[in-house]
Amino acid sequence: MKVTVVGAGAVGATCAENIARKELSEELILLDIKEGLSEGKAMDINQCATLNGFNTKVRGATNDYAATAGSSVVVITSGIPRKPGMTREELIGTNAGIVKSVTENILKYSPDTIIVVVSNPMDTMTYLTVKSSGLPKERVIGMGGLLDSSRFKYRLSKALGCSPMDLQGVVIGGHGDTTMIPLIKHATFSSTPVANLLTQAQQDEIVRETMVGGATLTQLIGTSAWYAPGAAAAYLVESIVRDQKKLMPCCVYLNGEYGQSDICIGVPTIIGRNGWEKIVDYQLSEDEKVKFEASASAVRKMNDSLYELKLI
Ligand code: 2OP
Repeated sequence: MKVTVVGAGAVGATCAENIARKELSEELILLDIKEGLSEGKAMDINQCATLNGFNTKVRGATNDYAATAGSSVVVITSGIPRKPGMTREELIGTNAGIVKSVTENILKYSPDTIIVVVSNPMDTMTYLTVKSSGLPKERVIGMGGLLDSSRFKYRLSKALGCSPMDLQGVVIGGHGDTTMIPLIKHATFSSTPVANLLTQAQQDEIVRETMVGGATLTQLIGTSAWYAPGAAAAYLVESIVRDQKKLMPCCVYLNGEYGQSDICIGVPTIIGRNGWEKIVDYQLSEDEKVKFEASASAVRKMNDSLYELKLI
């Protein structure tokens, strides 16, 4: 199986490194528009093979989409990252054109691929990819909720003093500082609801910190984070390539599920060899439904700018 990662920036290269370590593909293409960048990062990753024990061969390519031909999965990380103080939404004007042209070029050589969208604003970039690619909706998956859920479990583990691995917690809705919905009432620590173990004030703080998780890192680092975003994208690719049918919140095109249509937004999905294979109904409470509705309205507003920019 062949996998391509488009964009050799920090997120793309970290995703590629995780894919190589997990040996998810025999040949992994890392593509970028900047001369030498993907070749250099591919060489650097390949030089970890004996240290980290993997056989995946990473190949860098500058703007050469022919090198990506026959990819079963393509991860799109292209575009500019946000700077401190910026929202993901502010990136739309620049990143939408980039994501659309990357998708067109990828489909010339891999018409049946599964596309994983990481570029921001991720919900709108996923919607753009569904609308402009003509791919079956199951073959376009936005990665955001998985990352946000990992950050949610990190925050929960710190408050509970437990291993994040013993926690179940899901974030649905948009991948934005104000649109994501950490489902704290559904979160559990080894089958015990975390709501039984934390005060309301602690729960509120965890939800708040989770929602601004990306912004907190951008403020600290000076640019967008990459370790967890890259690892989350590779985790999603793993569930596709190994047909693991793992349940993870992903941004997918809704057709009535969760009361929404003609929108891509984060919901719990089963991810396998065919892309997203099922949407799981979490039976949201009335309060959670109201939040989901508000999140969808905000995402829909961003999608409107794609029509204004005549990109779809
Ligand atoms: C983040 O939240 C890059 O959107 C990504 O860090």
